[in-house]
Amino acid sequence: MAQDQLDEKGLSRRKIVVGGGVLAAGVALGQLGGLMPSAEAKTASATDWPWPYEKLDPVKTAEICYEEWYRVFCGCAVINSVFMQLKEKIGEPYASFPSDAFVFLEGGQVGWGTVCGSPAGANIVANLIIGPRIAGSPDGHHMSTDIMQWYSEASMPVFTPKKPRIDPAKIPHTVSESPLCHISVGKWMKAANLPLKSKERKDRCARVAASTAYRLVEMLNDWKDGNYESTSTFSAPKEHGITGQFNCMECHGDDVPETPTGKKS
Ligand code: HEC
Repeated sequence: MAQDQLDEKGLSRRKIVVGGGVLAAGVALGQLGGLMPSAEAKTASATDWPWPYEKLDPVKTAEICYEEWYRVFCGCAVINSVFMQLKEKIGEPYASFPSDAFVFLEGGQVGWGTVCGSPAGANIVANLIIGPRIAGSPDGHHMSTDIMQWYSEASMPVFTPKKPRIDPAKIPHTVSESPLCHISVGKWMKAANLPLKSKERKDRCARVAASTAYRLVEMLNDWKDGNYESTSTFSAPKEHGITGQFNCMECHGDDVPETPTGKKS
């Protein structure tokens, strides 16, 4: 949310600008203990990349994401679910981050069915927090490739919110074998026999976003604890000489084309 913050239930409440002198009426000073940014965090600016992180609760994050989906859709919901909480815990640069600018991630980027907004949003978060590609250490690239592979292999949606808008029994689970919105949504629509505009499809995507936010925070927490190891086995560019996915044959059948480098899959 651009202006408001969320409480545990994902409900909007009045803005509290810590340090800016604006406090919501009725908030006792004692309550602000946990919200006060540390001196160090206060000076963090957007150019101090990577950005500071404090461990978050995956369930709470997923619940916020589920609610946010109904406002700003998948990519933005994933980003907001993490950054809104970090804005409360840390302050800047999260307070100034225009998360809502990423609404365009919806529908695999404005309906074009390319990369699903959920992993795209998660990758924006991971790379702002973990930082640039550095050989040999877990970096933003590693977490991104793990997220893409996890998303492709997960029986989605994984996460069930406390108060689902649609009976979970009406939401089948599908494995996309792809991070593409078109394929992920298409396989689900086929399994459910329901159109894009159905309430069930919308709730499925809200829950896919929530599932991704949950997994992202699990990974970030492990990373913060120094326990994160990249698990992805993805290697299309290296192995095949072309950017792609791991399931060449699903699209190409038995006749996967060769690249001009002569590399054969
Ligand atoms: C999501 C579907 C999809 C996946 C997955 C996929 N491709 Fe493709 N690929 C296409 C389409 C569509 C084209 C363009 C049309 C065509 O040539 O078949 C293409 C084009 C290519 C080309 C360019 C040459 C040509 O004949 O068009 C190569 C090489 C290629 N793919 C190799 C691969 C390899 C290797 C993998 C696995 C690492 C892979 N593809 C995965 C859909 C896919």
